[in-house]
Amino acid sequence: MKSTEVRARFLNFFKERGHAILPSASLVPQNDPSVLFNTAGMQPLVPYLLGEKHPLGTRLANIQKCVRTGDIDEIGDNTHATFFEMMGNWSLGDYFKKDTIQWSFELLTDKEIGFGLDAQRLYVTCFEGNDDAPKDTESAEIWKNIFEKAGVTGERIYFMPAKNNWWSAGDNGPCGPDTEMFYDLTGSHTSGMTKEEYLLADDKQEIVEIWNDVFMEYIKKDGVVVGKLASQNVDTGSGFERVTAVLQGKNNIFDTDIFEAVMREVGKITDNLKSQRIISDHMRTAVFMIADGVVPSNTDQGYILRRLIRRAVFNTTSRTLTQPPVEAIVHALFETYGSVYENLIPQKEKIVSEIVKEAEKFAKTIERGLRALKQVLGGIKSGMSVTEEEANEDRINPIRNRINGKELFFFFTTFGLPPELFLEIIDVDRKNAETEFNIYNREKVLTEFKEEFSKHQDLSRAGSEQKFKGGLAGTGEVETRYHTATHLLHQALRDVLGDTVQQKGSNITAERLRFDFAYGEKMTDEQKKKVEEIVNKKIQAKLPVQKIVLSKADAEKTGALHFFGDKYGDEVSVYFIGDSLETAYSKEFCGGPHVSNLSELGHFKISKEEAVSAGVRRIKAILE
Ligand code: GLY
Repeated sequence: MKSTEVRARFLNFFKERGHAILPSASLVPQNDPSVLFNTAGMQPLVPYLLGEKHPLGTRLANIQKCVRTGDIDEIGDNTHATFFEMMGNWSLGDYFKKDTIQWSFELLTDKEIGFGLDAQRLYVTCFEGNDDAPKDTESAEIWKNIFEKAGVTGERIYFMPAKNNWWSAGDNGPCGPDTEMFYDLTGSHTSGMTKEEYLLADDKQEIVEIWNDVFMEYIKKDGVVVGKLASQNVDTGSGFERVTAVLQGKNNIFDTDIFEAVMREVGKITDNLKSQRIISDHMRTAVFMIADGVVPSNTDQGYILRRLIRRAVFNTTSRTLTQPPVEAIVHALFETYGSVYENLIPQKEKIVSEIVKEAEKFAKTIERGLRALKQVLGGIKSGMSVTEEEANEDRINPIRNRINGKELFFFFTTFGLPPELFLEIIDVDRKNAETEFNIYNREKVLTEFKEEFSKHQDLSRAGSEQKFKGGLAGTGEVETRYHTATHLLHQALRDVLGDTVQQKGSNITAERLRFDFAYGEKMTDEQKKKVEEIVNKKIQAKLPVQKIVLSKADAEKTGALHFFGDKYGDEVSVYFIGDSLETAYSKEFCGGPHVSNLSELGHFKISKEEAVSAGVRRIKAILE
């Protein structure tokens, strides 16, 4: 069965049973700042599951675009993808267990109107009960009747704990017990399985989950079930790619017709199958993200997009992605999705150019990163090859110790090299036998990196909390002028040195401003002059400085600078320099205070530029 037919049959089945078909919501949640992307079909519907009246009624169905990036490192195996489409149907206090389960079975097994799967290969699980909710014997009973009526024999209904059969999108919101359907891929388990056999088959991935019916009548707060919802809702989820793979007799999603066109094009830029899968997956996700308004950046959604594009580029044989292959890949994706999602084809130019721009940036990043890495490695290369045993000896230890979490963090903040890529470069280097002694413990260094990363987060959080506590410590007139100058300087540095520049700290007195930022090299005189020129030109243009208070989500959408991963309150103020938010030269999350017009600043001059620590530079500047 073609994937287009899977799509059509799913939607038609529920339309005929009184469901309004919703278009897929944007990948970027509109009213839920707690997640970066929709990770399930129910996410855009949370307000309605919580009781709000839906304008289209109490029966809904759709195929929703979703992104999950938790297992980005797994991409390339048989089942994982960062982007996927979730088929789902919902009852908002309308039908409940009996109809839901009956319909799931019908759609999965009916040959005329459904997917025509073999009912003898179907296995199901139900919730075994706990303090929050009783054992779901009702669902099990419904399944028993269905199987009996269909003449399906053998043991195939199992009770499982909350770990398996309780579903929620996160720690807060609607949730409930579920019943999950599994399909035997091997065709060898047609006469039933004991629970032990079922668990083993699951472990060996001989069976796959193809549908989940959640009975949402409970609500969770901070990870704890705190009560019941006003109505008994149904939320189901069935992975479109996975079901298609099952129907097309494939053991992985990349061999389905969904990936046919894109894999064909990607096959031209690498022979390696795993790389082909990674690139196909990441480019597909990137295309959908950009179409939904995400652009590569260092924060939030933009950062995920940046990582995906960079990882795709890294997996090509040439480690580059230029316009022609990108265009061909985007076209191939349009072959598959152009008629399903209307917002793709009209945005072709933007999609291609954002990907190519990011790929170019990455090429420069890699080049700089490699040069620096080579220096690190070069210092320890002596032309001889070293065995693993020798490498473990003390004399090699200092070499090994260079490949640690701190080093990874330095390359991440300074060059934008994600830690996984850093290690991949090291691995490639070793494979090429250039440095046989690059032996390191991957898990250990990645853990160290994470520790380093959260230390940095704590620092920046402390910084922003101070800011939000009510502005700067001493907020005399002079300090206020320096504060505004700091914003200007921050942006000017990004203009001149690139947007890997990130504020690491700032300190203001009545005499000067001090600004610490991530950057790996000493600034040249020319660069310093350029920064001064930019700042002074903005001052001469007498740009206004304005403040706007927005919800955190809306504030982030403005693209205003803020510390990555930082925690802010629900409402934040964004200071922007310019006539409007859209045309502003600088935008930053900030508690103020600031001058109201740049003309108050006078002449800006850098008095000192120096290193504070590895990868962090410090500028002192004065207003004359
Ligand atoms: N919302 C149900 C699921 O994602 O499985």
